[in-house]
Amino acid sequence: MNMGVLISGSGSNLQAIIDAIEAGMLDARIALVVSSRADAYGLIRAEQASIPTLALTKADYEDPLAADERISKALQDAQVDYVVMAGYMRKALSPLLDAFPNRIVNLHPALLPSFPGAHGISDAFAYGVKLTGVTVHFANDEYDKGAIIAQKPVFVAEDDTLESLEEKIHAVEHKLYPQVLQLIAQGSVAIGEDGKVHIH
Ligand code: GRF
Repeated sequence: MNMGVLISGSGSNLQAIIDAIEAGMLDARIALVVSSRADAYGLIRAEQASIPTLALTKADYEDPLAADERISKALQDAQVDYVVMAGYMRKALSPLLDAFPNRIVNLHPALLPSFPGAHGISDAFAYGVKLTGVTVHFANDEYDKGAIIAQKPVFVAEDDTLESLEEKIHAVEHKLYPQVLQLIAQGSVAIGEDGKVHIH
């Protein structure tokens, strides 16, 4: 499986994917890392792993469709099969969704459909839920609403702070995302006619 990984920030999930590939736990390769920001630390992680990168800037997103056309073309040129969003803070638009139907996956740091949006961890913490978690789902044209592939719970302890909860969530993400990508790589993940994801 040839993956293109989309990032915007620190890229700790990108690192977890790189590490899983190097450890032989994920049978895939990363053909391209695309960042929506030129200063994302994840770009350094990609360069350290000798992965080609494409960095866009805020100015590039003034025309969001043109930005996604450029990204889509770069991913296709790199012969990407699956697009993996890992902390990518932009919505995938039609140029990406049409080029990679049911082939764009996203990671969300809460149990969707609860707490969608850019602040899943802090929104859940502020609400006072006792249970939150991590969701991996396909991306579609509705933000954080695509078919769910996998979820893992994270309990909120009495003495948890936002920071300690963030740490717990990220630790779960770093394990779950490579595992789910391996299921996809081995062809075990399919969307049924019911629109739900089935894992064989
Ligand atoms: C993760 O919590 C992910 O769920 C969210 O953004 C964060 C990205 O972290 N969408 P990183 O850039 O992978 O370190």
